[in-house]
Amino acid sequence: MQLGVAGGDGVAAAPSHVFGADGRSVFRVLISLPAGREATLAYLKSVAEFRKPWVRNSRAGGDPQPSPRLPQFPAGTRLALVRQMLVIDERGEPVPTAVTEGVQIRVHRAVPADIPAAFSLHRDDARPALAVFEFRLSRGRLFAGEAGGLRAVARDEAEFPLFQSHGLDPFESEGGSSGPLEGHLRPVLGSCTQCHFRPGIHSVLSRVPDMARLRARDVRRDLTPSPDPAREADLTRSWKMRRESWRILRELWR
Ligand code: HEC
Repeated sequence: MQLGVAGGDGVAAAPSHVFGADGRSVFRVLISLPAGREATLAYLKSVAEFRKPWVRNSRAGGDPQPSPRLPQFPAGTRLALVRQMLVIDERGEPVPTAVTEGVQIRVHRAVPADIPAAFSLHRDDARPALAVFEFRLSRGRLFAGEAGGLRAVARDEAEFPLFQSHGLDPFESEGGSSGPLEGHLRPVLGSCTQCHFRPGIHSVLSRVPDMARLRARDVRRDLTPSPDPAREADLTRSWKMRRESWRILRELWR
C-alpha cells in the first residue's frame, strides 16, 4: 500500500530523498503487514490516531523521543522505497514516467522491544532484526527489456555514499587529511542500519518530522494511506519547479 503524509500539506512522503535527488525523481513509500491489506489499513489508522507519538526524555538531552507506547507493527512487516524517473517533455515540463530507477526494501524480521536513543551504539544490534535489499536501474537491462531494467545489489557491493553525506566528497579531498579514496567506500546493504536502527515503526523515517518541528511540538504529520498514485509525482514536480536551478534552466530553454 502506498503511503503519503497526513497533516504535512504539500510535503512529499520522502522529502529527504526528493531533496537529495534535487527533484529529478518521484519517491514512493510502500508498506505491507504480513496479515494483508485490511490489517495494514487498521494498523495505519491506529498510528494516525495515537495522541502522543513523541515524548520528552531527560536521558536524551530533553529532545523529543519516539513514544514506546506507539502501536508497533508485527515482525514480518515489509517497507519499500521506490524511485521513479521524472523527465522533461517537449514543452519543457517535468513529467513522471514508469521507469523505476531503484527500489530499497526492508523486511523487519524481528521487532525488539527496547528503543535505543538517537546516538547510542545499538546500530550493530539492529542488523539481525532486518533483512535489506536494493535493486538499481541497469541501462543494459532496461534497453534489453529484462527484469524491468533492474539488477539486485550484491551482498558485498560497496559505493561512495551520496545520500545525506553532508556535502563530503572524497574525490575533492583526495590526498588530504581524509586518507586514500578506497577508505570512503561503504557496503551498500551494510549501511542501512546507520539510519534505520530503531525497532519496527520507529525506524520508519518518513514519519519523522525534522527536529525543529519536533521541538516546537508541531507533529501532526503522520503516515496515511495514499490511494492517489499521482500525488507524489504532483508534489515532486511542484517542488522542482520552485527551485532556482529550474528557473535558470527554463530561461536557457527558451
Ligand atoms: C543516511 C541515512 C539513510 C541510509 C543509510 C538509508 N536510509 Fe532508508 N531512509 C532514510 C530516510 C531519511 C528516509 C525517509 C524518507 C525521506 O525523508 O526521504 C528513508 C526511507 C526508507 C524507506 C521507506 C520507509 C521509511 O523508513 O520511511 C525504506 C524502505 C528504506 N529507507 C530502506 C533503506 C534501505 C534498504 C537502506 C540500505 C540499502 C537504506 N534505507 C539506507 C535514510 C537512510
